[in-house]
Amino acid sequence: MNTLLKLQTYMGSRKALLPGALVLSAISSLMGMLPFIFIWLIARELFKSQADASPELINTYAWYAMGTAVGGVCLYFLALMLSHLAAFRVETNIRRQAMQKIVQLPLGFFDSNTSGRIRKIIDDNASITHTFLAHQMPDLAGSIMMPIASLLLLFVFDFWFGLACLFPIMAALVLMGSTMGKRGRHFMKKYMDALEEMNTEAVEYVRGIPVVKVFQQTVFSFKNLYNSISQYKDMVSKFTKMWEKPVSAYIVIINGFVYVLVPVAILLMGHSSNFAGVLLNLIFFILITPIFAQSIMKNMHLDQAAGQAAEAVNRIEILTHVDPLPVASDPVSVRGHEISFIGACFTYPGSREKAIDNISFTIPEGRTYALVGASGSGKTTIARLVPRFWDADIGTVTIGGSDVKDIAPKELMQHVSFVFQNTRLFKATLLENICYGNPHATDEAVERAVDLAQCREIIEKLPHGLRTKIGIEGTYLSGGEQQRIALVRAILKDAPIVVLDEATAFSDPENEHLIQKALEKLTKGKTVLTIAHRLTSVVDVDSILVMDAGKIAEQGNHRELIHRQGTYARMWHEYQQSIQWTIGKDVQYA
Ligand SMILES: Nc1ncnc2c1ncn2[C@@H]1O[C@H](COP(=O)(O)OP(=O)(O)OP(=O)(O)O)[C@@H](O)[C@H]1O
Ligand SMILES: [Mg+2]
Repeated sequence: MNTLLKLQTYMGSRKALLPGALVLSAISSLMGMLPFIFIWLIARELFKSQADASPELINTYAWYAMGTAVGGVCLYFLALMLSHLAAFRVETNIRRQAMQKIVQLPLGFFDSNTSGRIRKIIDDNASITHTFLAHQMPDLAGSIMMPIASLLLLFVFDFWFGLACLFPIMAALVLMGSTMGKRGRHFMKKYMDALEEMNTEAVEYVRGIPVVKVFQQTVFSFKNLYNSISQYKDMVSKFTKMWEKPVSAYIVIINGFVYVLVPVAILLMGHSSNFAGVLLNLIFFILITPIFAQSIMKNMHLDQAAGQAAEAVNRIEILTHVDPLPVASDPVSVRGHEISFIGACFTYPGSREKAIDNISFTIPEGRTYALVGASGSGKTTIARLVPRFWDADIGTVTIGGSDVKDIAPKELMQHVSFVFQNTRLFKATLLENICYGNPHATDEAVERAVDLAQCREIIEKLPHGLRTKIGIEGTYLSGGEQQRIALVRAILKDAPIVVLDEATAFSDPENEHLIQKALEKLTKGKTVLTIAHRLTSVVDVDSILVMDAGKIAEQGNHRELIHRQGTYARMWHEYQQSIQWTIGKDVQYA
């Protein structure tokens, strides 16, 4: 019942669809019994002496029998139509609402939830609700009518036969309710956990195949996948064994009407003078009881299906149960482009340690600041707080003196360009990829941005130039090339604030030189926060923030920091050595 109420909330304005389907299905299952009653009436006429039997009446009953049979089927068809409409509506709304929630979530949410996982959880679980609503619910409504129908038969036809019918139905329903209820639901949760685990491990396995091949490992190196499959197998076989006895009993009971009916008939014949009447009733009940059995059988797994549907909705709700970033009710507009961090701290959800701790600095408008430091020291985290991938837990981040939380998200995005650490292009044309930065850009503007980002040669290499679709038929771009295209996008966007996260990380020396040139064009006159691994690219910036374990260890320009002989000077020294080492090695092999 809870499941139904929950699913009903996804029905939107068409709340009547499902109840309508259930009522129609219930009526149709009652109607499905009427032809048998007419056949019984026909048989009764036939049993009469020739003088008493009325051929017209038999004819009429026959028509009625056919009419009600066809009517019942039509009603069932209508019920299924309504239930399908309801099911598709629920499925669509579950998907839509999940997507609406997801687009409001902090951008950082997509770090820990890959697009594949999000798609799988929403898609798989939304379609689970379909079978339940479209098929199982109408069948349930039909079979709920069964005890009522047998009660009806009990009074209309024969009290003892009716009672004999009611007994196995009630016993089967009680058995189903009591044994399958709680344990079934508990199992469903475990079952779906195991299934999800197996799916995730399978994806990991496929993703890891290149590594396995390179390192010459066998398939058994993927213990996790193997374990998840065995765990699933163990659980399912244990469950199957557990149900062996109750399910056998259940099937025997609901198919065993006839074992009850025959002794009742023998008893009745012993006590009745109307031998033919009892025989007629017996034949009638033997004809009609398999319908009861069939419709109850259909609902054998109903409880599990309801549990599965409820669990499916739960899973989607848990996935999207992250608070969206608060949006100011009375947003302020951006008044300047100076960036300030004031005592900002941030801990990733689920993590115990602060990724950044008490960070304070100010980048005056039009200046370029760089973040350097060891891997994991918090550089990316700082950069991400500017366009609100996440909000600082403590402290504030301001742009032009306004807290980023008070700026309307759309306006904030218009003022900030962000080049990611690992850029991925969309499976669309290059032009569409570039115009993401500015959908209204003219062709000339695009061409100019391509030239500024030194990307002409990448585009000339492609079969259809800017109109080439990326990601199909061998038109893939290298990591460095993708980053240069990301720079075209950022140049085209022309936002006054630029955040660059390791824009040179992927590139070879040739690419790096080109990217460096593109960056100069992109960042000219802008307020820039850049993260760089290659220290040569930060020599000329206005100020360098040296990060160490989430804190700013030093700050100053290149000359000042070298003079200070601290962390930066040491990093610079090591960097110089690594360059010399590379040159030395090259010379040796030349
Ligand atoms: N999505 C995340 N969830 C949980 N912890 C994270 C997440 N991203 C980063 N961290 C943790 O936060 C800390 C800072 O990470 P951050 O990505 O800011 O480092 P970084 O300086 O950019 O490193 P790199 O130079 O390798 O890119 C690290 O200890 C990291 O393990
Ligand atoms: Mg980083």
